[in-house]
Order: sequence, then structure tokens, then C-alpha cells
Amino acid sequence: MQQLAANGELLVVRRQVDPRYELAAVTRQVQRTGNAAVLFENVAGTSLPVVSNLYGSHARLCQLIGAPADGFCGRWNELLQSPMTHDMYLDVEAGNLVQAALSELPLITYHEKDAGPYLTSAIFLALEPDTGVPNLSFHRSMYVSDRELRVRLGSSHDLARYQKKAEDRGQALEAAILIGVEPEVFLPACYSLPYEANELELAAKILGQALPMRRCQSIDLKVPATTQIVIEGRFLPNVRRSEGPFGEFLGAYVPAADNHVFEVLRVTVCENACFHSITCGTPEDLRPLEALTAARVYEHVSRVVPGLIDVTTRPNCMISILKIKQEYEGHGRHALLAALGSNMDYNKVCIAVDHDVDIYDLDDVMWAFLTRGPADQRAFVLDRIPGFYRDEMKDHWGRLALDATMPWGRATEFERKTIPGENAIDLGKYLTK
Ligand SMILES: Cc1cc2nc3c(=O)[nH]c(=O)nc-3n(C[C@H](O)[C@H](O)[C@H](O)COP(=O)(O)O)c2cc1C
Repeated sequence: MQQLAANGELLVVRRQVDPRYELAAVTRQVQRTGNAAVLFENVAGTSLPVVSNLYGSHARLCQLIGAPADGFCGRWNELLQSPMTHDMYLDVEAGNLVQAALSELPLITYHEKDAGPYLTSAIFLALEPDTGVPNLSFHRSMYVSDRELRVRLGSSHDLARYQKKAEDRGQALEAAILIGVEPEVFLPACYSLPYEANELELAAKILGQALPMRRCQSIDLKVPATTQIVIEGRFLPNVRRSEGPFGEFLGAYVPAADNHVFEVLRVTVCENACFHSITCGTPEDLRPLEALTAARVYEHVSRVVPGLIDVTTRPNCMISILKIKQEYEGHGRHALLAALGSNMDYNKVCIAVDHDVDIYDLDDVMWAFLTRGPADQRAFVLDRIPGFYRDEMKDHWGRLALDATMPWGRATEFERKTIPGENAIDLGKYLTK
């Protein structure tokens, strides 16, 4: 936040805002005007300030991991492959923490038909019940009372598997909800490492040194010490209660369903804490989800196909767009085949393009498909393949793959036209005021 403020990328709202709709409405309008983050200093019903849109820009995500503007996936892959050269954790004493009730936190209601206030930046830290390996993942949580949150655990997520394992033994699963973490913890929480892998190890690698950790008091867990707000608690076994409806990242409401119950045991707040709010389905939700889903596709495809330059899943993580440097005839189709197998949930449409196409601009991607070859021989429909896990009506079944690369051996014919010097033009020197 300090860096954003220094760069002029942190807007400040001083007047009081209502956490019911108004805070989300102002955030949406801010997002429509640019990528700045917004700090709400005065939110009704709480003494805590609220910050939003911290992660709502792809360029900012690249800066956070030291990647060039079109190199998030490559840099992320380097971090994944890099060896640990230092200790993973550094045990520290908890600083000045204040104990609070859940209802003293900002209780933000986002959409008209949401069942109530939700914690949308809630990162759950839990340990695999047998191995003790920690996992980080986001799960929006509905506020019910100071003792109870209700949580929808997506069946393909590691936390759902941990909870099931504990429940099969008749045990509660302890977890800590982290709100307001450092970027090096936020980014691994967005990413899906294999079940056995430790996402806090990745956080320490991004940080470049041991991750300071402090002990919780009511559960047997350590949490990143700089976390602004920590909610300690446990998932109750064999208890499900109504959660939802909630306005989801795909733009519609998920209906109410019987979901998991999280019993709140203790809430601690750091000195000068700031609460983090994410409005689902807006740039702050989508840019990180897209970037880390793309990194997952990149990691998989680059292991089986050469020449992969970059991947994006923008403008919604259901699509994967791959930029390649063609090395042989059919290279684009190989890349598509690998991408389709890289992620069972989100790859509804996969598109391969050449190195000279801007994959962050869908117009440019469709230009490549429409001008670099026939439509019929480069579009592949794969019927009846299950997609996104939460899909009772099968709306996300089926796959579409588009080879938008130019025909092999005809690069001269399809060379993009350019105007020499175009990118260096400073219009201020040409236009009179
Ligand atoms: C900003 C953000 C918010 C998210 N919110 C939710 C959520 O509310 N519920 C959910 O099931 N998944 C949500 N996800 C998706 C997953 O929690 C997340 O991608 C995580 O990496 C899954 O971790 P796992 O593979 O370790 O289980 C969110 C992802 C991001 C990036």
C-alpha cells in the first residue's frame, strides 16, 4: 500500500461509506476508471479501514514477482523450479495483537441478492491431516454470527480433501483464515500446487528469505506473522447449513446450498490493521485468478511442447490463449492438445497464436484466427467433456480449440505490416494545443 501510494496508485475515500452495497459500488466505479487501489478510511460499523483493488492489474502482478510485462508465466515457472537456498520459516513472537469479535470487522455486503455479508479475501491456512503439509486457498465465507461462518468448499480444492479426511474420522479440521497478507503469501494462495506440495515454501521463495511465522493460540497452527487479521477456528464434521446465494466470479448468483460450517474460536487484529475487500468477478478477483491459472497451463505445456512464449487466460479464466514461436508444421495443434490436458476445470476454450500476436487483446487474437487461415479447418469441437467442477446443469461441458497460428512455411505472406517509428512517436511534439 505504501508503494502504491508513493506511485500515485492509491485513491483515498475519506467520507463514511456503508459496507452494504456502497463500498462495493464505489470500488466498481474506481475499477472502471483505471487500475488504482482504493482505501476507505471510514466504513460504518467498524474502526478498521478497508482497502480494495490491490491486485487488480496484470502489470502490478508482474512487478510483484520481478517479471517483465509479458513474462508472468515464465518468471513464475522459474520460481517454482528454483531450489530453496534458505530456511523455510522463522519463528517469531506475535507483535501487538488486539482480540476482536467478528462483528467488529467490516461486514461487507456486495450484491443485491447476496444472503448477507461475506469475507471475500479469506485465505484459509490448514494442514493436511496425515502429513501436516500446509495449504493456502481462498474460500469466500458468509458471516452468520460472531461464532459462525459458512463456507463453500469447491470439491476439487485441497482444503475440501483435508476436511473430508478429518470428517471421515469424526474430527473437526482446524484452520486459520488470513485477511490482509503480504503479496508473497497472496500469490501462492491463488495457485494450485500438487496436493503433496507446500504453498508456504513457495511464499518463502518469493520473499527470498525465511517466512516469519507466529503461533495461533486456540488452534495448533502457525500463521505468517505479518497477517493483518487472523480468524482461528475449525470446520465442524458432519454439519452443513445454508450458505448463499452469492454473486459469483462468473457474473451470476450461485444459489443457496447446504455448505460447511466454520466455528470461530478467536479473532486477532494487528496494530494499524487494514481489512482487504475483493469484489468477486471484478479485476481484483480475475487478474490474479487468470495469471495463476495461466501459470499452471504454462508449466504443463512447456514440459511437453517447445517454443511456448506466454499464456493468458484473460478475460475470464475459462479460456487459455497460448503464444508460441512455431518450430514445425502442426506445432499450434500440439500446444492446444497439451493445454486441454493441463487443467480439467477452466480450459473451456483454448487458442494458439503466433509470437507476433498480443494475447492480452482478444481483438488481436480473433484477428489472427480470422485472417491467418480457414475457420473450419482450424476449429475443433470436443463434445461432452466435463468442465468446471461446480456445474450441475453441465453448462461448462465441451471444449473448443482454435488453431489461430499462420500456416507453416508461409510466414512471409502473413508477416504483419508495420509503420517504422510508430511506437516511438510522442504525440505531444506533434499536436498543437
Ligand atoms: C482472488 C481469488 C479469490 C478466490 N475465491 C475463491 C472462493 O471464494 N471459493 C473458491 O472455491 N475458490 C476461490 N478461488 C479459487 C481457489 O481458492 C484458488 O485458486 C486456490 O488456489 C485453490 O487452491 P488449492 O488448489 O490449493 O486447493 C479464488 C481465487 C482467487 C485468485
